[in-house]
Amino acid sequence: MNNKQSKTNDLLRRALASQIELGISEVIISKKAKKLSESDGQIGSSSVGVSELFPEMSAELLGSAEYDSLDSHNRAICNCLKCPLGQSRTKFVYGVGNPNANVVFVGEGPGRTEDEIGEPFVGQAGKLLDKILAAINFDRTQVYIANIVKCRPPDNRPPMSDEMDACMPYLIEQLRLIKPKLICALGKTAAFGLLKSNASLGNLRGRWHDFKGIEVLVTYHPAALLRNPDWKKGTWEDMKKLRARYDELVN
Ligand code: SF4
Ligand code: URA
Repeated sequence: MNNKQSKTNDLLRRALASQIELGISEVIISKKAKKLSESDGQIGSSSVGVSELFPEMSAELLGSAEYDSLDSHNRAICNCLKCPLGQSRTKFVYGVGNPNANVVFVGEGPGRTEDEIGEPFVGQAGKLLDKILAAINFDRTQVYIANIVKCRPPDNRPPMSDEMDACMPYLIEQLRLIKPKLICALGKTAAFGLLKSNASLGNLRGRWHDFKGIEVLVTYHPAALLRNPDWKKGTWEDMKKLRARYDELVN
Protein backbone atom coordinates (compact mmCIF):
# COMPACT_ATOMS: atom_id res chain seq x y z
CA MET A 1 0.00 0.00 0.00
CA ASN A 2 1.41 3.40 -0.90
CA ASN A 3 1.47 6.40 1.39
CA LYS A 4 -1.61 8.02 -0.13
CA GLN A 5 -3.69 4.84 0.22
CA SER A 6 -2.65 4.36 3.82
CA LYS A 7 -3.55 8.00 4.60
CA THR A 8 -6.94 7.49 2.94
CA ASN A 9 -7.51 4.31 4.94
CA ASP A 10 -6.63 6.14 8.12
CA LEU A 11 -9.08 8.95 7.32
CA LEU A 12 -11.77 6.41 6.51
CA ARG A 13 -11.14 4.52 9.72
CA ARG A 14 -11.46 7.74 11.74
CA ALA A 15 -14.65 8.77 9.93
CA LEU A 16 -16.22 5.35 10.54
CA ALA A 17 -15.20 5.37 14.22
CA SER A 18 -16.87 8.77 14.64
CA GLN A 19 -20.01 7.53 12.94
CA ILE A 20 -20.22 4.50 15.21
CA GLU A 21 -19.83 6.78 18.22
CA LEU A 22 -22.65 8.97 16.92
CA GLY A 23 -24.84 5.88 16.58
CA ILE A 24 -24.86 6.06 12.78
CA SER A 25 -25.33 2.83 10.88
CA GLU A 26 -24.91 3.96 7.29
CA VAL A 27 -22.05 5.22 5.17
CA ILE A 28 -22.05 8.14 2.77
CA ILE A 29 -19.41 8.71 0.13
CA SER A 30 -18.94 12.18 -1.30
CA LYS A 31 -19.18 12.66 -5.05
CA LYS A 32 -15.68 14.08 -5.00
CA ALA A 33 -14.26 11.01 -3.32
CA LYS A 34 -16.05 8.87 -5.89
CA LYS A 35 -14.69 10.95 -8.74
CA LEU A 36 -11.17 10.85 -7.33
CA SER A 37 -11.33 7.12 -6.95
CA GLU A 38 -12.39 6.78 -10.58
CA SER A 39 -9.64 8.93 -12.02
CA ASP A 40 -6.56 10.64 -10.81
CA GLY A 41 -7.30 13.65 -12.99
CA GLN A 42 -6.36 17.16 -11.98
CA ILE A 43 -9.15 19.51 -11.02
CA GLY A 44 -9.00 22.30 -13.55
CA SER A 45 -9.22 25.93 -12.59
CA SER A 46 -10.50 28.86 -14.54
CA SER A 47 -10.94 32.43 -13.58
CA VAL A 48 -14.49 33.64 -12.97
CA GLY A 49 -15.86 36.74 -11.26
CA VAL A 50 -17.05 36.65 -7.66
CA SER A 51 -20.66 37.38 -8.61
CA GLU A 52 -20.61 34.50 -11.12
CA LEU A 53 -19.43 32.17 -8.40
CA PHE A 54 -21.93 33.46 -5.88
CA PRO A 55 -24.99 34.48 -7.89
CA GLU A 56 -27.24 34.40 -4.83
CA MET A 57 -25.02 36.28 -2.41
CA SER A 58 -26.38 39.62 -1.31
CA ALA A 59 -24.69 42.88 -2.20
CA GLU A 60 -23.71 43.30 1.45
CA LEU A 61 -21.61 40.17 1.50
CA LEU A 62 -20.40 40.61 -2.08
CA GLY A 63 -19.26 44.14 -1.38
CA SER A 64 -15.55 44.30 -0.88
CA ALA A 65 -14.49 43.47 2.63
CA GLU A 66 -13.09 46.30 4.70
CA TYR A 67 -10.04 44.22 5.63
CA ASP A 68 -7.80 42.28 3.28
CA SER A 69 -7.53 39.14 5.40
CA LEU A 70 -9.03 37.41 8.42
CA ASP A 71 -5.75 37.97 10.26
CA SER A 72 -5.78 41.72 9.77
CA HIS A 73 -9.46 41.84 10.73
CA ASN A 74 -8.74 39.79 13.86
CA ARG A 75 -5.85 42.09 14.81
CA ALA A 76 -8.02 45.16 14.33
CA ILE A 77 -10.89 44.01 16.55
CA CYS A 78 -9.29 41.76 19.18
CA ASN A 79 -9.30 44.50 21.85
CA CYS A 80 -12.97 45.31 21.29
CA LEU A 81 -14.95 46.69 24.23
CA LYS A 82 -18.15 47.46 22.33
CA CYS A 83 -20.28 45.43 24.73
CA PRO A 84 -19.90 44.40 28.40
CA LEU A 85 -18.61 40.92 27.45
CA GLY A 86 -15.34 42.56 26.49
CA GLN A 87 -14.70 43.55 30.12
CA SER A 88 -14.96 40.04 31.53
CA ARG A 89 -13.26 37.98 28.82
CA THR A 90 -9.88 36.33 29.29
CA LYS A 91 -9.22 35.87 25.57
CA PHE A 92 -10.97 37.15 22.50
CA VAL A 93 -12.12 34.20 20.33
CA TYR A 94 -12.11 35.23 16.69
CA GLY A 95 -12.55 31.97 14.77
CA VAL A 96 -10.48 29.20 13.24
CA GLY A 97 -10.17 27.19 10.06
CA ASN A 98 -9.81 27.54 6.34
CA PRO A 99 -9.97 31.19 5.22
CA ASN A 100 -11.54 29.97 1.95
CA ALA A 101 -13.93 27.48 3.52
CA ASN A 102 -17.11 26.65 1.66
CA VAL A 103 -18.91 25.96 4.90
CA VAL A 104 -18.82 27.99 8.11
CA PHE A 105 -20.07 26.53 11.42
CA VAL A 106 -21.41 29.17 13.77
CA GLY A 107 -21.79 28.56 17.50
CA GLU A 108 -23.12 30.73 20.28
CA GLY A 109 -20.10 32.11 22.07
CA PRO A 110 -16.93 30.99 23.81
CA GLY A 111 -17.22 28.79 26.89
CA ARG A 112 -14.69 28.49 29.70
CA THR A 113 -12.03 26.54 27.77
CA GLU A 114 -12.42 28.67 24.64
CA ASP A 115 -12.05 31.82 26.79
CA GLU A 116 -8.83 30.41 28.25
CA ILE A 117 -7.34 29.26 24.95
CA GLY A 118 -8.72 31.82 22.50
CA GLU A 119 -10.08 29.29 20.01
CA PRO A 120 -13.69 28.25 19.38
CA PHE A 121 -14.98 24.78 20.23
CA VAL A 122 -11.96 23.35 22.03
CA GLY A 123 -13.78 22.09 25.17
CA GLN A 124 -16.06 19.06 25.53
CA ALA A 125 -18.61 20.34 23.01
CA GLY A 126 -15.73 21.02 20.61
CA LYS A 127 -14.54 17.43 20.82
CA LEU A 128 -18.01 16.31 19.84
CA LEU A 129 -18.07 18.86 17.01
CA ASP A 130 -14.82 17.33 15.70
CA LYS A 131 -16.53 13.93 15.63
CA ILE A 132 -19.57 15.34 13.88
CA LEU A 133 -17.28 16.89 11.26
CA ALA A 134 -15.37 13.64 10.85
CA ALA A 135 -18.62 11.74 10.32
CA ILE A 136 -19.20 13.78 7.16
CA ASN A 137 -15.55 13.65 6.11
CA PHE A 138 -14.53 17.11 7.20
CA ASP A 139 -11.88 18.23 9.60
CA ARG A 140 -11.18 21.61 11.18
CA THR A 141 -8.74 22.59 8.45
CA GLN A 142 -11.39 22.36 5.71
CA VAL A 143 -14.18 24.33 7.34
CA TYR A 144 -14.31 27.56 9.31
CA ILE A 145 -15.63 27.74 12.87
CA ALA A 146 -16.77 30.93 14.57
CA ASN A 147 -19.29 32.19 17.10
CA ILE A 148 -22.02 34.81 17.21
CA VAL A 149 -20.16 36.62 20.02
CA LYS A 150 -16.39 36.65 20.30
CA CYS A 151 -16.16 37.02 24.08
CA ARG A 152 -17.41 34.61 26.76
CA PRO A 153 -20.68 35.48 28.47
CA PRO A 154 -20.27 35.14 32.27
CA ASP A 155 -21.25 31.72 33.65
CA ASN A 156 -21.93 30.52 30.11
CA ARG A 157 -25.27 32.31 29.94
CA PRO A 158 -26.54 32.84 26.39
CA PRO A 159 -25.45 36.17 24.91
CA MET A 160 -28.08 38.88 25.10
CA SER A 161 -29.68 40.39 22.07
CA ASP A 162 -27.77 43.67 22.28
CA GLU A 163 -24.47 41.79 22.72
CA MET A 164 -25.21 39.75 19.59
CA ASP A 165 -26.11 42.91 17.69
CA ALA A 166 -22.89 44.61 18.78
CA CYS A 167 -20.80 41.65 17.62
CA MET A 168 -22.65 40.79 14.39
CA PRO A 169 -20.68 43.18 12.13
CA TYR A 170 -17.59 41.09 12.93
CA LEU A 171 -19.20 37.85 11.78
CA ILE A 172 -20.47 39.62 8.68
CA GLU A 173 -16.95 40.82 7.85
CA GLN A 174 -15.63 37.28 8.41
CA LEU A 175 -18.26 35.97 5.98
CA ARG A 176 -17.38 38.70 3.48
CA LEU A 177 -13.75 37.59 3.58
CA ILE A 178 -14.43 33.83 3.53
CA LYS A 179 -17.38 33.85 1.10
CA PRO A 180 -18.71 30.41 2.11
CA LYS A 181 -21.51 28.75 0.21
CA LEU A 182 -23.09 27.30 3.34
CA ILE A 183 -23.51 28.15 7.01
CA CYS A 184 -24.37 25.61 9.68
CA ALA A 185 -25.92 27.28 12.72
CA LEU A 186 -25.23 25.27 15.86
CA GLY A 187 -28.15 25.59 18.24
CA LYS A 188 -30.95 28.00 18.97
CA THR A 189 -28.85 31.04 19.88
CA ALA A 190 -26.78 30.86 16.69
CA ALA A 191 -29.99 30.39 14.69
CA PHE A 192 -31.58 33.36 16.42
CA GLY A 193 -28.50 35.51 15.91
CA LEU A 194 -28.42 34.79 12.18
CA LEU A 195 -32.07 34.40 11.29
CA LYS A 196 -33.71 36.59 13.92
CA SER A 197 -36.33 33.90 14.23
CA ASN A 198 -37.69 32.83 17.58
CA ALA A 199 -39.07 29.60 16.13
CA SER A 200 -38.12 26.42 17.96
CA LEU A 201 -35.13 24.41 16.86
CA GLY A 202 -37.53 21.63 15.86
CA ASN A 203 -39.21 24.05 13.53
CA LEU A 204 -35.99 25.50 12.11
CA ARG A 205 -34.20 22.20 11.50
CA GLY A 206 -34.51 20.21 8.30
CA ARG A 207 -34.88 23.06 5.81
CA TRP A 208 -32.71 25.72 4.30
CA HIS A 209 -32.76 29.32 5.48
CA ASP A 210 -30.99 32.39 4.19
CA PHE A 211 -28.47 34.73 5.72
CA LYS A 212 -27.74 37.54 3.29
CA GLY A 213 -27.73 35.14 0.33
CA ILE A 214 -25.87 32.29 2.04
CA GLU A 215 -27.79 29.05 2.60
CA VAL A 216 -28.14 28.25 6.29
CA LEU A 217 -28.87 24.91 7.91
CA VAL A 218 -29.77 24.80 11.59
CA THR A 219 -28.90 21.87 13.81
CA TYR A 220 -28.49 21.04 17.50
CA HIS A 221 -25.65 22.56 19.47
CA PRO A 222 -23.05 19.89 20.36
CA ALA A 223 -23.32 20.83 24.06
CA ALA A 224 -27.04 20.02 23.86
CA LEU A 225 -26.16 16.64 22.33
CA LEU A 226 -23.94 15.89 25.32
CA ARG A 227 -27.02 16.37 27.53
CA ASN A 228 -29.47 14.68 25.15
CA PRO A 229 -27.73 11.85 23.27
CA ASP A 230 -31.10 10.95 21.68
CA TRP A 231 -30.72 14.01 19.45
CA LYS A 232 -27.61 12.61 17.76
CA LYS A 233 -29.76 10.80 15.21
CA GLY A 234 -31.40 14.06 14.16
CA THR A 235 -27.99 15.70 13.97
CA TRP A 236 -26.83 12.96 11.64
CA GLU A 237 -29.85 13.62 9.38
CA ASP A 238 -28.93 17.33 9.33
CA MET A 239 -25.27 16.61 8.61
CA LYS A 240 -26.13 14.33 5.70
CA LYS A 241 -28.21 17.15 4.27
CA LEU A 242 -25.34 19.60 4.74
CA ARG A 243 -22.80 17.28 3.12
CA ALA A 244 -25.11 16.52 0.18
CA ARG A 245 -25.67 20.22 -0.50
CA TYR A 246 -21.94 20.89 -0.11
CA ASP A 247 -21.14 18.17 -2.66
CA GLU A 248 -23.78 19.59 -5.01
CA LEU A 249 -22.35 23.11 -4.77
CA VAL A 250 -18.65 22.41 -4.45
CA ASN A 251 -17.71 19.16 -6.13
FE1 SF4 B 1 -16.78 43.32 21.17
FE2 SF4 B 1 -18.16 41.18 20.44
FE3 SF4 B 1 -16.54 41.04 22.53
FE4 SF4 B 1 -18.79 42.43 22.69
S1 SF4 B 1 -18.61 40.23 22.39
S2 SF4 B 1 -16.78 43.11 23.38
S3 SF4 B 1 -18.95 43.26 20.61
S4 SF4 B 1 -15.95 41.39 20.41
N1 URA C 1 -19.99 26.61 22.51
C1 URA C 1 -20.08 27.53 21.53
O1 URA C 1 -21.17 27.90 21.13
N2 URA C 1 -19.00 28.00 21.01
C2 URA C 1 -17.79 27.61 21.38
O2 URA C 1 -16.82 28.11 20.84
C3 URA C 1 -17.69 26.64 22.39
C4 URA C 1 -18.80 26.14 22.94
